[in-house]
Amino acid sequence: MSDTVLVLGASRGLGLALAKAYAQQGRRVIATVRKPGDAAPLKALGAEVLQVDFADPASVSGLAWQLDGEKIGLALYVAGVWDGHDAATPPAREQFDRVMHTNVLGAMQVLPQVAPLVEEAGGVFGLFSSEMSLLADAGSDAWLYRVSKAALNMVVASAQPRWPRATVIALDPGWVQTDMGGEGALLTVEQSLQGLLRTLAGVTPEDAGRMLRHDGRRMPW
Ligand SMILES: NC(=O)c1ccc[n+]([C@@H]2O[C@H](COP(=O)([O-])OP(=O)(O)OC[C@H]3O[C@@H](n4cnc5c(N)ncnc54)[C@H](OP(=O)(O)O)[C@@H]3O)[C@@H](O)[C@H]2O)c1
Repeated sequence: MSDTVLVLGASRGLGLALAKAYAQQGRRVIATVRKPGDAAPLKALGAEVLQVDFADPASVSGLAWQLDGEKIGLALYVAGVWDGHDAATPPAREQFDRVMHTNVLGAMQVLPQVAPLVEEAGGVFGLFSSEMSLLADAGSDAWLYRVSKAALNMVVASAQPRWPRATVIALDPGWVQTDMGGEGALLTVEQSLQGLLRTLAGVTPEDAGRMLRHDGRRMPW
C-alpha cells in the first residue's frame, strides 16, 4: 500500500495531531490548511501543504490537479465546524450553509477527486463524523451539527459502492479537548489520537461503508 497520507483540514485539533503523528512515523504526509499562515508548523514536520477551503467549491475543485498522479494509502477528511443551537432554534440560511458546506458539501466534492487515488493504492478513506450523528441516540442539542454529520454518514455509505477498491469509513474520535470539543471534553487529543491511530491501522475490507470509533468499536448507524 502507498505510504502517502492525505490529511484534509490539518491546521489545528485532530487534523494537526494526525498529520504530526504520521510524519513522525516516517510516512509521506500531504496536509491541507485553509489559511496560508497555518502551513509553517506542518512544513516543519516535512509535510507538503496545500491550501483548500472546503466551504468554497472553487477552492476544492483545485485538489484533483494538485494531487494528479498520486496514490494515497490513507486519506482523512477531518475538517468540520460545530453549531450548538438546539432544535427549538430554526437555523438561519447563513448558519445552515456554514455548517453544511464544510461538513457535507466539502466532503462530497472531495470524494470524487480523492477516492480514485485511494483506490489506486487499495487504501482507506476516513471521514470524521461523530456519535452525535446516530439516529438511535438522537438528542435535540446541536441540531444542525447532528444533521450535518448524519448526512456525512450517508455520504460515506453511498460513496463506498462507487469506489469498491477503497475502504471508505466514518470515524468517531470521541469527545475531545480541541477548540471544538472544549476543555471539559472526556478525552485529551493524545488519547483520541492514539485510539484513532490504532483503529486506522486495524481497518479491514469488512469495515467498508461503516462507522468506527476511536476505541476500535464498530458502530451501528
Ligand atoms: N472535538 C470533538 O469532541 C469532536 C467530536 C466528534 C467529532 N469531531 C469531528 O472531528 C473533526 C476534527 O475536529 P476537531 O475537534 O479537531 O476540530 P477543531 O479543533 O475545531 O478543528 C477544526 C478543523 O477543521 C478545519 N476547517 C473548518 N472549516 C474548514 C473549511 N471550510 N475549510 C478547511 N478547513 C476547515 C479547521 O481549519 P481552520 O483552522 O482554518 O478553521 C481546523 O483545522 C471534525 O470533523 C469534528 O466535527 C470532533
